[in-house]
Amino acid sequence: MEFRYYMPVKTFFGKDCIVKNSGEFPLLGKKAFIVTGKSSAEKNGSLADVKKALDNVNIPYVIYNKIEPNPEVEDMRKAAVCASESGADFIIGIGGGSPLDAAKAIAKNTPLPIAAIPTTAGTGSEMTPYSILTFDKIRNKKSISTESIFPAAAFLDPAYTETLSAEVTVNTAIDALSHAIEGYLSVRSTDVVKPYALESIKLIGECIPELEKRSFKSDTREKLLYASMLAGIVIAHAGTTAVHAMGYPLTYHKHIDHGRANGLVLYHYLKFVERESEKVKDITDIMGISGVDEFGEILDRLLGVKEMLTEQEITEFTKTAIAGKNIANTRPQPEESDIRKIFEDSFRR
Ligand SMILES: [Fe+2]
Repeated sequence: MEFRYYMPVKTFFGKDCIVKNSGEFPLLGKKAFIVTGKSSAEKNGSLADVKKALDNVNIPYVIYNKIEPNPEVEDMRKAAVCASESGADFIIGIGGGSPLDAAKAIAKNTPLPIAAIPTTAGTGSEMTPYSILTFDKIRNKKSISTESIFPAAAFLDPAYTETLSAEVTVNTAIDALSHAIEGYLSVRSTDVVKPYALESIKLIGECIPELEKRSFKSDTREKLLYASMLAGIVIAHAGTTAVHAMGYPLTYHKHIDHGRANGLVLYHYLKFVERESEKVKDITDIMGISGVDEFGEILDRLLGVKEMLTEQEITEFTKTAIAGKNIANTRPQPEESDIRKIFEDSFRR
């Protein structure tokens, strides 16, 4: 056995965990730069809780709420200048993957400690050293990866996910499931994280009836957030694979939500991997389903009517995907023709 395990995120999970642990913020710094999106952090109560916690410990803060979905690297440079001019010495990211990844990009150069507060159950960004940004220069999304952007603290309160739409809940759940599956199948998977991956897959599997009905009990919201966190720990060690490499051009060019983009290619990726790996059976076994084809039927029900791609788009996206660094984590190692076939099969009319 041989592995490396590193998980430096001090993690708090549960109702009101931010206010209950206000005393954690002075450990991070003296002034906070809060990075979030336009309105969701106000709607779901997370921003109010952060303000309350900071007030409890007399920490001043500046709010930067200009983060758009799929943040662009140039905008992050501008935001980093604002952070620097504010005199803040730590960053608080609140939101889905985009604000959390933005917070990491803003914190990266100095580097500053980060507190991550996820308000969706999908990216697992609160547990990873990755920031996924949009690079217009290469017409794609790409991840920055460095240990200095591991959040110092993560606060996971399932209450913030209660106000998510059914669509966002489903898409983010598919993203988390994809992380757990890809991390489990990655060549970089380790004995430490495989049980996390299987537990995450099992928990999300238990939520599928509600995901299909698009109606969620609070217990299910909590389960999805926990499963997403576990999957984050998995990809922090094992990385993602061809699914994410293929999903990024779908998001960049077709504006398909990240989780949905992964979901669209996940079934045919599993068909591809299954040819050489018995590990795919571990996944369907723990979900209590008969095999990959049943998995594909579940995805079909979750995704509904699928987008279409032209031949030209398939050619362009294949070229982009095969150049992705997470292709190297994929076994069997796909050729360009394999990636093309997964795209073709996934978007067959
Ligand atoms: Fe993802």
